[in-house]
Amino acid sequence: MDKSDPAYAGQAGYTRAFLGIYDLWVIGVVAPRFLKTPIKETVARHGELVGARHLDVGPGTGYFLDKAPLDPATAITLLDPNPAVLAKCAGRLARFNPETVEADVLKPLPIKGPFDSIGLSHVLHCIPGPMEAKGAAISNLANVVAPDGVLFGATMLGLDAEHTKPARFLIRVGNKQGGFDNLTDTAEGLRSILETSFEDVQVRVVGSMAEFEARQPRRHE
Ligand SMILES: C[S@@+](CC[C@H](N)C(=O)[O-])C[C@H]1O[C@@H](n2cnc3c(N)ncnc32)[C@H](O)[C@@H]1O
Repeated sequence: MDKSDPAYAGQAGYTRAFLGIYDLWVIGVVAPRFLKTPIKETVARHGELVGARHLDVGPGTGYFLDKAPLDPATAITLLDPNPAVLAKCAGRLARFNPETVEADVLKPLPIKGPFDSIGLSHVLHCIPGPMEAKGAAISNLANVVAPDGVLFGATMLGLDAEHTKPARFLIRVGNKQGGFDNLTDTAEGLRSILETSFEDVQVRVVGSMAEFEARQPRRHE
């Protein structure tokens, strides 16, 4: 991704070095202790919601797809603007022989689908705000999900939500550094952008995160 792109900072930090410690630090400490994300439940949720043709947007290290009890025949596509993420995740999930797509979810997508499930876990807080601007990602994904498919994931809420002290610190530092852009993100704002592109939307606040599931896409093409 070009350095001048407003979305550059949200993906640039996922270097090989950071991805090397991501599971230990982010999934082992930050998510469960600071953000109060229930890791086991999130793994189980992936097991329940991932369908036969799955697109994972911003897959990071692929931790949740690796740990979830998925059908070995699941066809997985990984989409991320960062080639280091795609290499790391595709290597870890090599048993699924995943397809990789180097792309920005905010731009028209170079894939057609349809996908039975799309994972968008912990990505929206990394892309440029305000929340309404993140709606471009949701409408792009609504165009490639199957009519009976599901878009699911979670995103870290902004400062109006309840957070632990370390989470609040992390949000401030992340926004200052540029890796996050979520200071004003709310569960209501998330529901609104999801409802613009899907008929059936569920949003639930869990710790610092809003978890969501969206079904019955409204096409924007
Ligand atoms: C916090 S990690 C989440 C990793 C994984 N989904 C998880 O839940 O552990 C954020 C991911 O979003 C990706 N990302 C950031 N900006 C993006 C964009 N504009 N389009 C697609 N992916 C993006 C990053 O490269 C990274 O893989």
